[in-house]
Amino acid sequence: MTTDLTVIVLAAGGGTRMKSKTPKVLHRVVGRSMVGHVLRAVSAVEPACVCTVIGHQRELVGPHISEELPDAVLAVQEQQLGTGHAVRVALEALEAAGRKLREGTVLIAYGDTPLLEGATLKAFAAEHEAAQAAVSILSGVVAEPFGYGRIVRDADGEVVAIVEEKDATPEQKEISEINSGILALDAAFLSDAITRIDNDNAKGEYYLTDAVKLARESGLTVTALPIDDVWQTEGANDRAQLAALGREMNHRIVTRWMRDGVTVMDPETTWIDADVALAPDVTILPGTQLLGATTVGEDAVIGPDTTLEDCEIGEGARVVRTHAQLAQVEAGASVGPFSYLRPGTRLGADGKIGAFVETKNAQIGAGAKVPHLSYVGDAEIGEGTNIGAGTIFANYDGVTKHRTKVGRHARTASNNTFVAPVEIGDGAATGAGTVVRKDVPPGALAVSQGPQRNIPGWAQARRAGTPQAEAAAAALADDESGEAAAED
Ligand code: UD1
Ligand code: CA
Repeated sequence: MTTDLTVIVLAAGGGTRMKSKTPKVLHRVVGRSMVGHVLRAVSAVEPACVCTVIGHQRELVGPHISEELPDAVLAVQEQQLGTGHAVRVALEALEAAGRKLREGTVLIAYGDTPLLEGATLKAFAAEHEAAQAAVSILSGVVAEPFGYGRIVRDADGEVVAIVEEKDATPEQKEISEINSGILALDAAFLSDAITRIDNDNAKGEYYLTDAVKLARESGLTVTALPIDDVWQTEGANDRAQLAALGREMNHRIVTRWMRDGVTVMDPETTWIDADVALAPDVTILPGTQLLGATTVGEDAVIGPDTTLEDCEIGEGARVVRTHAQLAQVEAGASVGPFSYLRPGTRLGADGKIGAFVETKNAQIGAGAKVPHLSYVGDAEIGEGTNIGAGTIFANYDGVTKHRTKVGRHARTASNNTFVAPVEIGDGAATGAGTVVRKDVPPGALAVSQGPQRNIPGWAQARRAGTPQAEAAAAALADDESGEAAAED
């Protein structure tokens, strides 16, 4: 690869068809902005410099690009006067940054083609250089060329021009080979040609594509290299196209994971973001979304109907019908069904978070269990402890959040409330229905319920005439006749 490669990414356009307050290139596909995908592909080519042209909503687009690619030079195009104008603005910004282009190759890409791959750009730049062309066009043969610039070739098949839709003759409109927009240009040629491009055309814009005509007029070589995989150069102009690109990209990601040894029962309902990492022999069941920077260890089984965002799931763990965010589940642990793991949840190895349990900022030790119907917030639970069904960690006093600590191998009973801040010691226990307001020392049994008192005949006396009273009376009558029979 050349040591002198510059990439210019055009991202100044408005994207009005998105009908969005979010700039078009910041719309996300499989967990990353469209322009973020393009910048990844571009970086794979190891360019000497990347310049991004921004305009519309540049107060949002500019910082995002700087975050994705801190070294990128930002060129501001105040008015979108066409792709040729955008490139001129880029060349000026590069010069201002001390990177005036004299030789080497310039690659042009657009900020809204998220499926573009680094390998494609690399091969394209290499072919361009091998051909010693002034301009190379990454073209595509498509069924519906409407709207694209058409590649016009002469009788010998040599490229003579790119003609835009609005400027095309009826015959030219029949051409199915289109300009993807991705171009490679000789830097010296481009620096000169860019000053000669005018806006004398149907749209009154400065067309970068006029560089083709200018090269041919100077007797220079122009090549068009068709790409088979046209998805890679597809842009999203509206939300329907955005969804179509997202589905295709997801399909590619899911297929890649299956090839790498992940079992996916239903690829159609499985969504995996670009930055997710999966180990071999992971199994994903239908209706599962693995988002953000989620990682899943070997032999873990995820799903069905589970969403994990930025989660770390250990080897052999099982996560069923769960919604989790920024949670860590260690090896062999089990979660779900119907669990809600909020940020800061860490479940130790072989531990359990069961049905209808919500956790937040909760560290649950190895082998510890919260099996049923509980809320565990701002808590630490030691290894081997079992939390009874229906336990609420009451962390909020209405003003401030407080922590609860439960020690190792404790056994707390059903329907407890732990009123934070409070500590339950190692090996301690609680009775059913206990409200723990004071610390429980290690090994102690805490009971807060009063002894049970039965008031006989209460229903018959206080609920006379109701089915409740009748049922009670009938039961007692049965008992009496039973006793009478036994006496006989
Ligand atoms: C352009 C090409 C066309 C090609 C098509 C592929 C030209 C003249 N035409 O047409 O041959 O088939 O792309 O999609 O190049 N942009 C700027 N500043 C501007 C104008 C555009 O940054 O002043 C950016 C846009 O944000 C967009 C890209 O350049 O990302 C393409 O611009 P667009 O107006 O969509 O070009 P098309 O008319 O589609
Ligand atoms: Ca376009």
